[in-house]
Amino acid sequence: MKIERKQSVVLVPCPYQGHLTPMLQLGSILYSQGFFVIVAHTQYNAPNYSNYPEFVFHSMDDRFQEIDISFPSLENLYSMNENCKVHLRDYLFTMMEEEGNQIIACIIYDNVMFFVDDVATQLKVPSIVLRTFSAAFTQSMITIFQQPEKYFPFEDSQLLDPLPDLHPLRYKDAPFFVIKNTVPEAELEFRRAICDIGSSVATIWNTMQDLESSMLLRLQEHYKVPFFPIGPFHKMAPSASSTSILEEDNSCIEWLDRQTPNSVLYVSLGSIVRIDDKELIETAWGLANSEQPFLWVIRPGSVSGFQCAEALPDGYEEMVGERGRIVKWAPQKQVLAHPALGGFYTHCGWNSTLESICEQVPMICRPIIADQLVNARYLTQIYKVGIELEVIERTVIEKTIRKLMLSEEGKDVKKRVVDMKQNIVAGMQIGGTSHKNLKDLVDFISALPS
Ligand code: UDX
Repeated sequence: MKIERKQSVVLVPCPYQGHLTPMLQLGSILYSQGFFVIVAHTQYNAPNYSNYPEFVFHSMDDRFQEIDISFPSLENLYSMNENCKVHLRDYLFTMMEEEGNQIIACIIYDNVMFFVDDVATQLKVPSIVLRTFSAAFTQSMITIFQQPEKYFPFEDSQLLDPLPDLHPLRYKDAPFFVIKNTVPEAELEFRRAICDIGSSVATIWNTMQDLESSMLLRLQEHYKVPFFPIGPFHKMAPSASSTSILEEDNSCIEWLDRQTPNSVLYVSLGSIVRIDDKELIETAWGLANSEQPFLWVIRPGSVSGFQCAEALPDGYEEMVGERGRIVKWAPQKQVLAHPALGGFYTHCGWNSTLESICEQVPMICRPIIADQLVNARYLTQIYKVGIELEVIERTVIEKTIRKLMLSEEGKDVKKRVVDMKQNIVAGMQIGGTSHKNLKDLVDFISALPS
């Protein structure tokens, strides 16, 4: 069926993998619903245009050529917001002058790119915020920064105590960069900025109503604008084009093909976090001693002070032989969907979390920063589809892997993730919540005044 295309939506992603991916997936969803899609992106980590020939791409001069912005520090994120403002405004202004104001239905921006709200207001174009995080994380941020003095500073002895009003979180799960048991004011300010939706007219969420309904309701009372939870995006999007910034090593799929069903543990800590060499070595021995097959992503730069896997014990790869496979970057969604997969040792990034649940893969949770801490707590305590890795020490890692892959408790975790996946599938079908919310979103954008 030929689609009569309507207006354009302008998407402004944040250029880190865990943010770029859901924005491109959202673009693919909206394109399938009849909108033209324009992606205004930074030069840094520009998407691969050939994977999305149906989109119009526009590169913003981010002035980052001289700076290392590979880690999303506060300074880098503020610079990003500052540097792109004038460029985006001028680009859209020229487009509207040439094509007429009605050309743009709305601008949809990642909550981290909060400068867009100002640009949209200046141009009198409606804006919509995309939340790439879980609702639980956003709710926890809002609760904490409304009364930070109630939470910080805290004592070391409180780390395992519950965070007031934030069940099931403990002090150690506080989703902020905590320094000396308190949170710097600059960090609080930044979190406020990303939670503030300014004059935006709606929010889109890469989550599901069925998964986070009470949390979404509370947030909607706070924001008082229409909410569209239409996730999980990677399953709702008709295009399965790669969104990877790094090159995927597809040879690991052939290796997976040679493994027994449900036997392999996939290990990956996402695209941002770094660990130290001590953790790498403990993980290496935990994996080796567990005697389970494993596929391990060691991303270049992910071990502080090292390029890549050279921090591993000497002769490690020869020692584990065919039982273990180490790659720099994997086609993760394909890996998780492979029948050989039995478990996922994850940092609990929100994309990885959704991807794992959708393929009914149970998890070992090793969160490191920000939303990962909240996600991990929900996975282990509320949904019970993951097991917490309590200590980063080789014997504990070995024991936790065996628990997930071999024990009765592991089987129960697997059963729950199978049920959870079924609920998600139901939500995406006709009559399901994400399906219905998407239809509402399309009607909402189509009715926006231009
Ligand atoms: C970060 C946060 O941790 C995340 O929670 C937030 O929502 C976005 O920013 P990241 O740490 O990269 O993202 O984790 P995650 O959200 O899991 O995203 C990683 C993405 O990279 C996933 O889509 C995953 O499929 C992909 N990936 C990861 C690969 O394709 N190959 C790999 O080898 C590893």
